[in-house]
Amino acid sequence: MMSKVDWKTDETLAVGKGATVQEFFATVGSNKLQIDVAPWGEGHLKVNGREIGKVDNAKDRRQAFRELDKMAIRYLMGQPLKSDIKRKSSMIPAVKAKLLEGKKGLIVGIANENSIAWGCAKAFRAFGAEVAVTYLNDKAKKYVEPLARELESPIVMPLDVGVPGQLEAVFKRISKEWGQLDFVVHSIAFSPKETLQGGVVDVPRDGFLTTMDVSCWTFIRMAHLAEPLMKKGGTLFTMSYYGSQMVVKNYNIMGVAKAALECAVRYLAAELGPKGIRVHAISPGPLATRAASGIPEFDALLDKAKAKAPARSLVSIDDVGVATAFLAHDAARLITGETLYVDGGYHIID
Ligand SMILES: NC(=O)c1ccc[n+]([C@@H]2O[C@H](COP(=O)([O-])OP(=O)(O)OC[C@H]3O[C@@H](n4cnc5c(N)ncnc54)[C@H](O)[C@@H]3O)[C@@H](O)[C@H]2O)c1
Repeated sequence: MMSKVDWKTDETLAVGKGATVQEFFATVGSNKLQIDVAPWGEGHLKVNGREIGKVDNAKDRRQAFRELDKMAIRYLMGQPLKSDIKRKSSMIPAVKAKLLEGKKGLIVGIANENSIAWGCAKAFRAFGAEVAVTYLNDKAKKYVEPLARELESPIVMPLDVGVPGQLEAVFKRISKEWGQLDFVVHSIAFSPKETLQGGVVDVPRDGFLTTMDVSCWTFIRMAHLAEPLMKKGGTLFTMSYYGSQMVVKNYNIMGVAKAALECAVRYLAAELGPKGIRVHAISPGPLATRAASGIPEFDALLDKAKAKAPARSLVSIDDVGVATAFLAHDAARLITGETLYVDGGYHIID
């Protein structure tokens, strides 16, 4: 019984480590076998130049190779060829080019499947990055845990930025497990209902401080804790909104907090730039999330955004996620301090 094929690489081809596609060859009796595998989990098995097997949904190059090797053995033993990889229905899009492979990041702000942070987490993961995620408290845990499983997150921790020590504990664990960090997505904001829904002129001091603390200072704090871990550089992201620039009805004190946040982005970008750390605010158009449900007449804001934006379209959390992931790629290495609008162009229209 055949149990092993002796695969060799062709030394003369540029297909070694780091090459996009790796090729392996073996000769068994009169059969010349060939396997090629790509880093995104696609591969082919050829016998005497004819393709007899294919894998297009493996996790990575290694798994693709193992599958094709098993197929080769089955072929040589005269057994039917089939892949053992079950195509599971996944919430993570199947992106072939793993542009962020090897990068590791922290994503804070997933409350449920509608969260902007979830859109970001899906995109980063689809591009091959590893992500650590947090959940607010025990109540939120049951919604976040299944999503963390989808993401195959190695680090899933509680984080309420109002609880002393929790943020530090997250970074400590990252330091211990990963020893490095490539990106952070800060996608949280909070303002007490009475503070948010009253006008700016009536804002009480405690409500103002809570709003600024959760929605702005925590980003600065995360930058502080991430800096020593971004030894080879990295990218810090936070979520802002157009209400920081213009008076948007009902956005009130959150607009003030977002203006401070965007300004913090610029100062942090200037201070951390020499270390290769880039800092961005992403400014999405309105999205129907839990946080948005605290803003009165939010439906009217959605209708207006759709009617006025040049793209005549609302944005999705996936649109926001992909744009954010792009800025984490090395191709964007000279872009920093930016507030990137993902709003169908709404902000350019009078
Ligand atoms: N939804 C929109 O229309 C919109 C548009 C532009 C920007 N944003 C911004 O995007 C970010 C994410 O919001 P979202 O719309 O995805 O809503 P969301 O409700 O899904 O996310 C908000 C997150 O903030 C977290 N949070 C609140 N208080 C916290 C605390 N004390 N500690 C830790 N986490 C805390 C919540 O747990 C939640 O995960 C926010 O900064 C929001 O202002 C939202």
